[in-house]
Amino acid sequence: MQTAEQTKDESLVWRTARIPVKHWGRGVDAIDQMHPDVQAVVEGFINTWRQRYIPLDSTMAQLPEDRSFVGKGLLLFGNAGTGKTTTASAILTTIRRTYGAVVFFVPFADYVQALIDHRNMRDLYQATGDEYAREKFLALQKLLDKVLTCALVVLDDMGKEHHTSSGFAADVFDALIRGRHRNGRPTILTSNNKPGDWDKVYNASMQSFITEACEVAAMAGRDHRRA
Ligand SMILES: Nc1ncnc2c1ncn2[C@@H]1O[C@H](COP(=O)(O)OP(=O)(O)OP(=O)(O)O)[C@@H](O)[C@H]1O
Ligand SMILES: [Mg+2]
Repeated sequence: MQTAEQTKDESLVWRTARIPVKHWGRGVDAIDQMHPDVQAVVEGFINTWRQRYIPLDSTMAQLPEDRSFVGKGLLLFGNAGTGKTTTASAILTTIRRTYGAVVFFVPFADYVQALIDHRNMRDLYQATGDEYAREKFLALQKLLDKVLTCALVVLDDMGKEHHTSSGFAADVFDALIRGRHRNGRPTILTSNNKPGDWDKVYNASMQSFITEACEVAAMAGRDHRRA
């Protein structure tokens, strides 16, 4: 039995990680009926975590012999209601509990919007000296830094963000996923788009890179919401 204080402490972890409240405290063990193929990929991800995430202050001796997992994340794709967000949240929870890693959850559309707001608030503050704009700018800066530097990040609902002709979302995604991968920080992506369609949603080079940066798990089966 947990004390009220412990419960409060744990809620702080999940709140800070921005995990959807519905999934707070539920690790992968709490998911029933996970497809065996998905389960194998998920368990493999968790068990090889120390080969995937390389803290920036690692010494040579701490680097894994096998470098093929370094910075390697997961792409969970499938139709609506197949449990992508649930599974991604559960992996964050289990990685946090097992390894104490700093984890973070963000819908990708929110990340793109935060980048736009960050730029606008900076411009507004520079033009007018408005204090609210400065505070908002600094708060957004913190959020953006977290997404870049946390040990493990979920980018939820890739492809649902607003797309402009300038290809802003594609560029943002490209920079983020390449930067995290380069620095030994895995990323979990969820999407309705199958990997073969990523050239249409983003671009051909991103489609190619994603297969290097992520293992792929197909979330098949029925829509749990209709069940
Ligand atoms: N293994 C499961 N068993 C029973 N219910 C589940 C399971 N996985 C997810 N659910 C429930 O099904 C619903 C949909 O799950 P979830 O939000 O994870 O789907 P999703 O694939 O992210 O959907 P979307 O594409 O719309 O974002 C939720 O209410 C969730 O709690
Ligand atoms: Mg979802």
